[in-house]
Amino acid sequence: MALARHIGQTVASSSFIRKMFETGIRLKQEYGAEKVCDFSLGNPSLPPPAAFSEALIRVASQSFPGKHAYMPNAGYADVRAAIAGWVGKAQGIDLPSSHVVMSCGAGGGLNVIFKALLNPGDEVVASLPCFMEYRFYAENHGGVLKTVPCKPGFDLDLDAIAKALTPRTALVILNSPNNPSGTIYPEATLQGLAGVLADATRKHGRTIYLVADEPYRAITYGQPVPGLLALYPHSIVVSSFSKELSIPGERLGWIAVNPAAEDAAALIDGAVVCTRILGYVNAPALMQKAAAACLGVTADMAAYRRKRDLLCPALKRIGYDLVEPAGTFYAFPKAPGGDDLAFVEALQKQLVLVVPGRGFGMEGYFRIAYCVDDDIITRSLAGFEAAFRECT
Ligand SMILES: Cc1ncc(COP(=O)(O)O)c(C=O)c1O
Repeated sequence: MALARHIGQTVASSSFIRKMFETGIRLKQEYGAEKVCDFSLGNPSLPPPAAFSEALIRVASQSFPGKHAYMPNAGYADVRAAIAGWVGKAQGIDLPSSHVVMSCGAGGGLNVIFKALLNPGDEVVASLPCFMEYRFYAENHGGVLKTVPCKPGFDLDLDAIAKALTPRTALVILNSPNNPSGTIYPEATLQGLAGVLADATRKHGRTIYLVADEPYRAITYGQPVPGLLALYPHSIVVSSFSKELSIPGERLGWIAVNPAAEDAAALIDGAVVCTRILGYVNAPALMQKAAAACLGVTADMAAYRRKRDLLCPALKRIGYDLVEPAGTFYAFPKAPGGDDLAFVEALQKQLVLVVPGRGFGMEGYFRIAYCVDDDIITRSLAGFEAAFRECT
């Protein structure tokens, strides 16, 4: 077998996501795409804002030196400066442009940071439920993902995090607003976390970094998303335009390193070299220019609120146990009957597709990606009701 053993294992361990994807294709072929309500993918349903499309056309039709050329691995200087001003404002700190490195989406940015920070066997700590690609990203660079349970209602369990920190902990990764729960961690919790990390850093004699994965920062329903850079010096924000501009296929993101971090300069040099040696070389050129021209503009976020309000109260009326998402376009209810796999199968019989909670490290729940057309939500409710009755 030519395939590397660990990749064979990765293929096997991600097989249920593939199975879901294949089930979706099969059901759509069998019953017609319009009959299937597919809530399985976090692919934004809204078109990119007009300002982005116009900026892209403008940039594509302009000629400027180095338009399609290699550039510094960190990205265009003017784009980094624009992002630094915008992110610094959102995070409540002064962020120099030298501390921004452009990336190929948040996924690319996280791989760059993990490669820059992890020694073999180092641990990445994440609170459940979480985006499980973190496990693969950590393993890509010799690290190990260590997950910790959350409190009821999905807030961070600071005692559990404190217990998980060891001399092997290189970083804690935090995703707020959270995929899959939609939780925004409150400022008081984050202040507490900063204290836990400072204590563990002293105790173990090793700086523990806090990496904030924030691609959903712009998708919120009123609750503010506190800036982590102002709360903890050894922190890094990684984000992208995938969700807020509805351009996940364009692979544009960024990394911001806190100037207060003791290793900030070395970390930036590391991130730049990792961008190169991971083969990204630099973030997509024209996308950098187009996104920088419309910072702060987003897809129509009111539409996600409408979809949430169409779905969540209706599910509660049926009897689902659900914490309303404060951000993102995901809801993470308890699986009626307690078995997420059995429940997801019961829903499939109703031609409604969702992802079992164990795909996010939490059995007994399921994720609904409600970034779909409103009529799919309306049509799905009978299926949600039938599956609820079958499983309870
Ligand atoms: C929590 C989280 N982090 C990172 C990513 C990767 O996003 P990107 O498309 O910017 O690579 C996703 C994508 O769904 C996500 O949900």
